Amino acid sequence: MARPQTIHICSQCGFSSARWHGQCQGCGAWNTLVEERAPAGGANGKGAPRRGGGSAQGVAPAPPVPLREVASTAVERLQTGIGELDRVLGGGLVPGSLVLLGGSPGIGKSTLTNMALGNLAGTGHRTLYVSAEESAEQVRLRAQRLCSGSACAALDVPVLAETDLDVVLDSLAAHAPAVCVIDSVQTLRCGELSGSAGSVGQVREVAAALMDFAKARDIAVMLVGHVTKDGALAGPRVLEHLVDCVLQFEGERERPYRELRALKNRFGSTNEAGLFEMRQGGLVEVLDASARFVAEATRAPGSVVLAAMEGSRPLLVEVQALVAPSELEQPRRVVSGLDRNRLALVLAILGRHGRVSVGGHDVFVNVVGGVRVEEPGVDLALALAVASAARGVAVGGAPRACFGELGLTGELRWVGHPERRLQEAARHGLQDVIAPTGSGHGACEAPTLREALAAALPVAGSRPARAAA
Ligand code: TYD
Ligand code: MG
Repeated sequence: MARPQTIHICSQCGFSSARWHGQCQGCGAWNTLVEERAPAGGANGKGAPRRGGGSAQGVAPAPPVPLREVASTAVERLQTGIGELDRVLGGGLVPGSLVLLGGSPGIGKSTLTNMALGNLAGTGHRTLYVSAEESAEQVRLRAQRLCSGSACAALDVPVLAETDLDVVLDSLAAHAPAVCVIDSVQTLRCGELSGSAGSVGQVREVAAALMDFAKARDIAVMLVGHVTKDGALAGPRVLEHLVDCVLQFEGERERPYRELRALKNRFGSTNEAGLFEMRQGGLVEVLDASARFVAEATRAPGSVVLAAMEGSRPLLVEVQALVAPSELEQPRRVVSGLDRNRLALVLAILGRHGRVSVGGHDVFVNVVGGVRVEEPGVDLALALAVASAARGVAVGGAPRACFGELGLTGELRWVGHPERRLQEAARHGLQDVIAPTGSGHGACEAPTLREALAAALPVAGSRPARAAA
């Protein structure tokens, strides 16, 4: 059989060439040529002809439709039976949609998708698990572990251990599942391209072919994707644009907690996050995370409880800081569970407006439990934890929590959903919550960082914060 023709197109300038070159002959950029299927007409170095701009084929232009006349049909979502996953998806999987699930190796992507398919099979949906990474036997061993010996639908999921895209598409056509998992998009390979599995051209081709197929037959597809060392999804960015939903599964391998976030969702909010714990029998949803984190909080110098919002849910987490003299010319700033720039900003504000200077000291900050906090309300917790660590004094008084964003002039700024944060804190016995002005009934309101510091870490001569009426 003649080898199908492919061309190499520069991802920067669009120059095309029949052969791969390290340097683009069009714009001179390095490593930008990506292999693609040749358009009909062959690889002649001129690229595809321009479309539109005339009625060469005599096709009538399609008239646009006013939005209110567009038919809207209520789609019935497929419930995976994993509450946290369904919530992050926006209420379940949408038929004909593509969901990309990214995460580092060993985080639990295969486990999560196995469990979801098992539940769907258990509720009578046709499913298919395509494993391009593990053998069918390995997948079975995992499913057995998930079922822990008892009768379980995870073992009813048909598995196909295959790396060839065409074979997978044929099998999908023959088996006609409602939901399918591709584990993973980087290990599937399209035979028409010469690049190895996982290369930019291959990943793009595989994802595009699966998308066309899924949309045409209304199959919900979950693509498992690898992430690179710095946490980004491996492969071309176009993959993220192509799919309907991008989910990120994160956490530390050594710790049991795993967090599922939506980075993109065409069918729901990207604010939602789900929390899981990896146990012997698979992933278990963590529904009482606040209770656990509050119970585990040390309340030692450097520890403070933050009343955070995880999407639409309040979550109490412990933020810990350690401040120690540094032997380095440039002291270390190490963070886990939050943005490093956020710490730099808070340290600058602390120094300027809180009279807490940590120059010459290493500063380590950790959100306990492997949770990631990405909301502005974390600022005050960071500042109080660092100040408490620097002074060697525990946050005093009754069990406390805090939240609030810090402004560059040292003011404490209002953040969203104060009432829900306060309720959550009260529900777990933390009555004394230091919060920005306007947070409402029950908060110990502080208009500035200085007043918040005085309330949390009183020193002689400082003015206490006002309790809101
Ligand atoms: P896995 O889903 O294979 O991760 P990924 O597909 O993201 O690479 O799961 C990896 C880890 O989870 C593995 O180290 C073992 C652990 N694990 C459990 O602790 N309990 C279980 O029931 C299962 C299935 C896995
Ligand atoms: Mg896996």
